Amino acid sequence: MNALIRPAATADTRALDAQLLADESKYCSFGDTVHYSEPPKIFARCDGSWLFDAQGTPFLDLQMWYSACNFGYANPRLNNALKRQIDTLPQLASQYLHPTKIELARLIAQDAERKWDAPGRVHFNVGGAQSIEDSLKLVRNASGGKSLMFAFEGGYHGRTLGASAITSSYRYRRRYGHFDRAMFIEFPYHFRGPKGMSKEEYGEQCVAKFARLFETEYNGVWDPKAQACEYAAFYVEPIQGTGGYVIPPMNFFSGLKKVLDRYGILLVVDEIQMGFFRTGKLWAIEHFDVKPDVLVFGKALTNGLNPLAGIWAREELINPQVFPPGSTHSTFASNPLGTAVGLETMKMLAETDYESMVMKKGAHFLEGLRDLATRHPEIGDVDGLGLALRAEICEADGYTPNKKLLDRMVDMGLGGELQHRGKQIGLVLDVGGYYKNVITLAPSLHISSEEIDLGIALLDQLLTKAKRA
Ligand SMILES: Cc1ncc(COP(=O)(O)O)c(C=O)c1O
Repeated sequence: MNALIRPAATADTRALDAQLLADESKYCSFGDTVHYSEPPKIFARCDGSWLFDAQGTPFLDLQMWYSACNFGYANPRLNNALKRQIDTLPQLASQYLHPTKIELARLIAQDAERKWDAPGRVHFNVGGAQSIEDSLKLVRNASGGKSLMFAFEGGYHGRTLGASAITSSYRYRRRYGHFDRAMFIEFPYHFRGPKGMSKEEYGEQCVAKFARLFETEYNGVWDPKAQACEYAAFYVEPIQGTGGYVIPPMNFFSGLKKVLDRYGILLVVDEIQMGFFRTGKLWAIEHFDVKPDVLVFGKALTNGLNPLAGIWAREELINPQVFPPGSTHSTFASNPLGTAVGLETMKMLAETDYESMVMKKGAHFLEGLRDLATRHPEIGDVDGLGLALRAEICEADGYTPNKKLLDRMVDMGLGGELQHRGKQIGLVLDVGGYYKNVITLAPSLHISSEEIDLGIALLDQLLTKAKRA
């Protein structure tokens, strides 16, 4: 593990970090920043599953930029695709065409057509939230201008005004208002659901509650005379990301889709965090046997090298007659650096059996987490699908959310003071969940078996230390 070899810490690097922190507090907007640790951590280098600070301390990263970096930091194949594109056609205005945009759109659309028997098209933009905005335009347009959406409690779709209107947290809207806030529907979060019900039964109950909204006009969403719903689409994350990697029962989305089809409501699947094999399939929704009308992707498409995101939609929703030139535009959308890396990602995914690899590594990681839970009663729930894994941190009763304990764990992990083979080492974790007490684990899909075991050992050390503190 030569990634662990590090240069001696110098007083210079510490002084430089201190100066950078002082400048950050004075000159950087905090609007896009959450400082999870105090002082905030500055990193200098990355490689594979590892981040390094200026002192050379290695940190095992188990969140990989919230899944933007599924294929490991500094992935040589994807980095080289970017370097090649820099040397050939790095810039081009979007009214002109370049090959990788077309090839990437073709690969995504052909894959969707094969899986869902639906011809469609791909439209790129510069980030997840911007692509969510594009999808909102599509479904508003397709529904004759309806501006209301269904979405889930615990759902997250981004922070632009349109995306935060369909994101459940009021916190993101409180200061800024919203465009037509979604109606937020209960998601089958089984661990915190009603007692005495199986996961499947709870999923069925959630679908039944949703279906009940259409029983009478007095429930506020359906006009039985006109046979029309006031809501254009339902926005779903197949596995809730920011909501705490909540995995619904496998029969949930097929049940929900039946209701949507009955009332003419479109299904928009947000794969921004769970796409690109995070859960062992290209798209997480493939686990659930339903066909999306619109699919939104981002993050890992370029392994975090370029802010490229996009949507795929069925032909009826996106063909040039209904979504003509000028419908939306951003200067950097489908920029050649992003599409070149995205194309390389898709080729790489087609050449290796990512499904078997991710499911195998995920099972190994989950087994380690389950074993850890037997030694730490504070781990109230563990679950996983592929390499999207969760560990819910609670009081010793294994149920009451313990955000404080998890905050201490995150702090200590970023403090870089854990031990491995007599050396200092750190751990990078992400926090999510309805009560902000869930470790949302999204390791590199290329993580080695030894690194998984090390990750579990470091979580063990961290929990032991944090409980004592
Ligand atoms: C499920 C989901 N949707 C949308 C977004 C927003 O994407 P972006 O941050 O690229 O705007 C995110 C980002 O975390 C996400 O996880």
